[in-house]
Amino acid sequence: MSEPVLPEGVERRSIDGNERLATRGEPVYGEPTDGEWRAWNPNRSKLGAMLELGMDTGLEGGDDETVLYLGAASGTTVSHVADFAGPTYAVEFAARPARDLLEAADSRPRLFPLLKDARKPESYAHVVESDVDVLIQDVATRGQARVALENKRFLAEDGRLLLAVKARSEDVTRDPGEIFAEVRDALSVADGYEILESERLEAYHADHLGIVARPR
Ligand SMILES: C[S@@+](CC[C@H](N)C(=O)[O-])C[C@H]1O[C@@H](n2cnc3c(N)ncnc32)[C@H](O)[C@@H]1O
Repeated sequence: MSEPVLPEGVERRSIDGNERLATRGEPVYGEPTDGEWRAWNPNRSKLGAMLELGMDTGLEGGDDETVLYLGAASGTTVSHVADFAGPTYAVEFAARPARDLLEAADSRPRLFPLLKDARKPESYAHVVESDVDVLIQDVATRGQARVALENKRFLAEDGRLLLAVKARSEDVTRDPGEIFAEVRDALSVADGYEILESERLEAYHADHLGIVARPR
């Protein structure tokens, strides 16, 4: 099988003597740079890990690709996304990381930070355009499948969900494998998602599962 292609605007480049995923933009988290290119650290980013592991995210990149990103924190990953995609709506409910997120948005006119709760999509429905191409979710909260299902309303019929599931956010005492199976089942309800690919992100993030899915 051939390697899935990287989105336009994401390249493998030699930075600091290592082959690294990279995007073009202002640095955000002290990552090494080479000219206008900034390294994308997969140990700090679940989406970066999914790309490093060769998962077929369906991301294309370019000005026309719209993204809704849930759990933006201080902007580590979503800043890379806004470097290569079009309008990128970044939802984060904690005020402290959101301050850094605003800073990351300063040099990125296509990045729109929203200080909102991803469990209450109706609170940002008036801002986020409908039919977004990609819904990316990395929220450290219980009920991660529910959040993905509730935000499906924003996703185009042929769009993609890129979900990072953190087992410990659901239950620290249980086996991650069992939790991942439950999340997959919860997503796969009739009006939910069809899972296209899922892979443990263990090499970069302990007890996390990466999922690529599309609306049913
Ligand atoms: C693992 S961090 C995200 C890291 C980020 N995605 C990155 O790669 O740069 C999880 C984030 O989810 C946020 N979060 C948790 N529950 C949330 C909710 N209901 N709505 C919005 N953000 C939430 C937390 O405040 C935290 O910043």
